[in-house]
Amino acid sequence: MSRSLRVTSGFIPQVKLAVMRNGFPSQQALAEELGLARFTISNFLNGKPIDYLNFVEICHILRLDWQEIADLDNSRLNEVSTKSRQLAHLHQEDLGEAPNVSVFYGRTEELAKLEQWIVIDRCRLVALLGMGGIGKTALSVKLAEQIQNEFDYLIWRSLRNAPPVENILVDLIKFLSNQQETDLQDTVNGKVSRLINYLRSSRCLLVLDNAESILRGGDRAGQYREGYEGYGELLRQLGELPHQSCLVLTSREKPKEIALLEGQTRPVRSLQLNGLDATDVKSIFTEYGSFSGSEDEWRVVVEYYAGNPLALKIAASAIQEILNGNIPEFIEIYLKPGKVLFDDIRDILDEQFNRLSASEKEIMYWLAINREPVSDLKLQEDIVLSGAQQKLIADLASLKRRSLIERGEAGFTLQNVVMEYMTDQLIKKVSEEIRTGAPTPYKM
Ligand SMILES: Nc1ncnc2c1ncn2[C@@H]1O[C@H](COP(=O)(O)OP(=O)(O)O)[C@@H](O)[C@H]1O
Ligand SMILES: [Mg+2]
Repeated sequence: MSRSLRVTSGFIPQVKLAVMRNGFPSQQALAEELGLARFTISNFLNGKPIDYLNFVEICHILRLDWQEIADLDNSRLNEVSTKSRQLAHLHQEDLGEAPNVSVFYGRTEELAKLEQWIVIDRCRLVALLGMGGIGKTALSVKLAEQIQNEFDYLIWRSLRNAPPVENILVDLIKFLSNQQETDLQDTVNGKVSRLINYLRSSRCLLVLDNAESILRGGDRAGQYREGYEGYGELLRQLGELPHQSCLVLTSREKPKEIALLEGQTRPVRSLQLNGLDATDVKSIFTEYGSFSGSEDEWRVVVEYYAGNPLALKIAASAIQEILNGNIPEFIEIYLKPGKVLFDDIRDILDEQFNRLSASEKEIMYWLAINREPVSDLKLQEDIVLSGAQQKLIADLASLKRRSLIERGEAGFTLQNVVMEYMTDQLIKKVSEEIRTGAPTPYKM
């Protein structure tokens, strides 16, 4: 059958009106909302054929009955209708700032276990735990990709900037009500109840990344930062009350509700992530060039960094750049001389940060100041160091190669662990400026 559909010509005016009625000021705005090309929208509005999946999706957001306005004969109707029901599942998704994980190795056991927990055992609350850089975010995205067909809705959000729980609740409720519920008057508890109602009536997969941002840290591990206790209530209710959805949380620390409610036969569970093994690490390294070393030498490096993919990516670029990929030499010069075993990603960040050029450091600072992803054009405006603007593209490429920055749909940003590290550097720099009364240049 044909895989495309068009709007019946008689319905075109009504369809155009629906764009305005639903609050889209332009075709571009609608295209952006749906993540479709503008010409797809334009073809749709002008009665030209477009892919039926896009057709159904556009009708959905415009609250139009696609079967009514589509120009198709009845023989094809059923076929398309079944497909569109499958599509409705797939396409109610909002991935927010979820990073792209096209490069991903190993973790097959973890993925199988999580799928078992969520799809078969119907867990309601699952935490992915582990140190910074170990791969929690990447795994959460991969998992969501793998099991999304089981769900009516998929939403992925980062708590990196510690949004108040109200904001997250409103965001989730809006999405799950297809933007119908926008009344924000309720108390936190009221909003949690509303959310749970949606989680009962549909099967939703919610992913909240970087939950450590709302936790206190230190010796009071698992407790909430002041003003963020509402998240505790959210987790408790999601874990205790019956519903057919699942919240996947990633965090460096285990929130106390999870510790209280979890169990191997209960619907609340947590998975502690360990490092990657040597085979997966080798695959990661190949993206940085070729490396020489015996099996034992590879193992020394992998173990030194506890299989932490972020640390290993940063190390890989350094080994390639300084030593031309020579692993035994790297062990001899850097790992052997009485160094304590890697236990904090900051060690490696210190070393790497010190090796950056002044203009690269300046970019790192601006990405930390901005916090949200920024485009290269915006960075161009921020940068003041002379000569740095011309080098911007080359510097961005170099920082990306070193795994210090990431590029997503919304622009460039720092890896979460790197963001925290840079925020500390920034605080040091500003305190220094206050102490000396003079701005220090963009290097430490
Ligand atoms: N299984 C994997 N295969 C390849 N790269 C990975 C894998 N897991 C993580 N990474 C990479 O390692 C870096 C750190 O992973 P991330 O998921 O951000 O860690 P965390 O969220 O635990 O801080 C990222 O650049 C990510 O793409
Ligand atoms: Mg992360």
